[in-house]
Amino acid sequence: MENRGQSFSVLNCIDLSSPDIHKSVSLLKQACLDSGFFYVINHGISQEFMDEVFAQSKMFFTLPLSEKMKHLRNEKHRGYTPVLDEVLDPENQVNGDYKEGYYIGVEVPENDPKSEKPFYGPNVWPTADRLPGWRQTMEKFHQEALEVAKAVARIIALALDLERDFFDKPEMLGEPIATLRLLHYEGQISDPLKGIYGAGAHSDYGLITLLATDDVLGLQICKDKDARPQTWEYVAPLKGAFIVNLGDMLERWSNCIFKSTLHRVLVHGPERYSIAYFVEPSHDCLVECLPTCKSDKNPPKFPPVKCGTYLTQRYKDTHADLNLYTEHQARKNLP
Ligand code: OGA
Ligand code: NI
Repeated sequence: MENRGQSFSVLNCIDLSSPDIHKSVSLLKQACLDSGFFYVINHGISQEFMDEVFAQSKMFFTLPLSEKMKHLRNEKHRGYTPVLDEVLDPENQVNGDYKEGYYIGVEVPENDPKSEKPFYGPNVWPTADRLPGWRQTMEKFHQEALEVAKAVARIIALALDLERDFFDKPEMLGEPIATLRLLHYEGQISDPLKGIYGAGAHSDYGLITLLATDDVLGLQICKDKDARPQTWEYVAPLKGAFIVNLGDMLERWSNCIFKSTLHRVLVHGPERYSIAYFVEPSHDCLVECLPTCKSDKNPPKFPPVKCGTYLTQRYKDTHADLNLYTEHQARKNLP
């Protein structure tokens, strides 16, 4: 059972253009200790460009399913993810997430040795004659969002008593795994009592996630994952802002001082578009308890783990086996 209140969470707002860094650090720290969610405004990405990214996203999802399936995600997690591809909360979900998505990662050409690494490789792109300008728009957003993420990570570093550029190191956000995911929620109305959700309850895997949404309500957070019944609060969309949340790697790094927060999406009727930007460090980055987050009395709660290994496992746990689609395709092609 759960508490089905319609309450809203009041989140702190971090203004990236503010010269008062102490204030930003204090607001961010308070948000990280409280809900693990905050808004980021004046981040430097223009409203006009954000609107363009949403418009292009909509154009892709409006294509016929057969066309979208030609861009089905590959083993590098690039491309289209159909409805029910992902099950974020198997314990409470009957089928899977009622959302479709499109993953775009760091573009690494096939002939580059780095493309051997999981999550690195060429992206899957819709053809330019079908969706002109699509690739350019997404690549530009990918780059600009990374700069926003780095700016936020600097405030996080200060809030954890680290050097401002702690996360800027090459093995951290210098060569990150950063994934842009376009999302579209439509159709099946959510009913938590029946295990039907747009996106099941989960916490994100990496350092932070930047989320841009349209103005349709849907995102909910649960500040205390261990409380029973769980209490869910809506996060109101805020025009032009990113909703930022902390991921599980930051929870591990900070020894649970900063917790990743459970969240989910309910679909109430109208379709909803959102754009998530998942920020993780490099493959070989060892995520281990930060020096400022441990003491004799408070030893590390997690063993060190390599980012690439950790992330691979988390994706495997939540996404359908790709063979499923080939089998399905093969069955359909039977005489
Ligand atoms: C996610 C996520 C929320 C949303 O993709 O991890 O939590 O509003 N998305 O789409
Ligand atoms: Ni999420």
